[in-house]
Amino acid sequence: ADTKVYQASTTAPVNIAVVKYWGKRDPKLNLPTNSSLSVTLSQSDLRTHTTAACSSTFGPEDTLLLNSSPQDVSGARTQACFRELRTLRSALEASNASLPKLASLPLRIVSENNFPTAAGLASSAAGFAALVRAIANLYELPSSPTELSRIARQGSGSACRSLFGGYVAWEMGANEDGSDSVAVEVAPASHWPTMRALILVVSAEKKGVSSTSGMQITVATSELSKHRFAVVVPKHMEAMKKAIQEKDFETFGKVTMVESNSFHATCLDTFPPIFYMNDVSKAAIRAVEDINTRAGKIIAAYTFDAGPNAVIYYEEENTDAVAGAVKGVLGELDGWEGKEVKVQDTKAIDA
Ligand code: PMV
Repeated sequence: ADTKVYQASTTAPVNIAVVKYWGKRDPKLNLPTNSSLSVTLSQSDLRTHTTAACSSTFGPEDTLLLNSSPQDVSGARTQACFRELRTLRSALEASNASLPKLASLPLRIVSENNFPTAAGLASSAAGFAALVRAIANLYELPSSPTELSRIARQGSGSACRSLFGGYVAWEMGANEDGSDSVAVEVAPASHWPTMRALILVVSAEKKGVSSTSGMQITVATSELSKHRFAVVVPKHMEAMKKAIQEKDFETFGKVTMVESNSFHATCLDTFPPIFYMNDVSKAAIRAVEDINTRAGKIIAAYTFDAGPNAVIYYEEENTDAVAGAVKGVLGELDGWEGKEVKVQDTKAIDA
């Protein structure tokens, strides 16, 4: 019998949305109520490293270790990813009898984040993107990033965008089976090489309301979110794509901030209300407003996900005005940790 241990490793980067995903039209398949758009951050700063292995000597259960602690893989999300990848491997094995029979072997996955997990820093995005690609590599699947994004989406919606570098759209799609709800590259990192992000870690604690339950309550209770899905997001998607094509930072920044505010407004409009930003987050907003007022134009843009941490986008030439000022204002407060990161290039992701 084959007792060999087969294994493959990969890394996946974090992405931070500038048009936010917040709402599922199908919670089982993670089909969103709106399209979204993100910037992929350099994985030398923020990434998940994952090794996937399989062997007849493992098991009988599939296992996953994240930062050395065992995770529950019985959840529907993780199971959906395993199932999809095994189905693709089985099809390969069926068409080529010389391939080892890996699809039926227990999986052993080991993942490591180099940043705080579940603090609203998109850890699940990098996590599921890395998990899906590590297994796809292990199974030698000839899948494109867009095909893998369809699978990673079922693990965590935002994960589908972490299969690409640069500027990435997740098109919501129209099909009931989710076949067209995938990520596509809007522009590579090299298109806008001066883009930078400053990550301000306010708190590395786990977030209060998970994105899954938060989204469900928002969709069920917020009238404002209906307007957001129908009118606000479609307008922002179009404006954002154009701003990126034209490297128009003022529009990019304006839409980024209005988007973040719109998302957090629907959280407040949810019943019972959800608050992700805290007083330090609000101080960061004021600091960015001061920077832009002083510059006489938008040179910095804040955005917040499902947690209090801020990500501030700016261009390299404004590093001193932005990073300097933000750190100057907030640096003395406890718990602030500022990290400046570049945009990740797609080509270098799966080395
Ligand atoms: O992919 P999830 O379920 O972790 O949801 C992510 C939601 C936001 O980060 C708030 C927005 C986004 O588009 O990434």
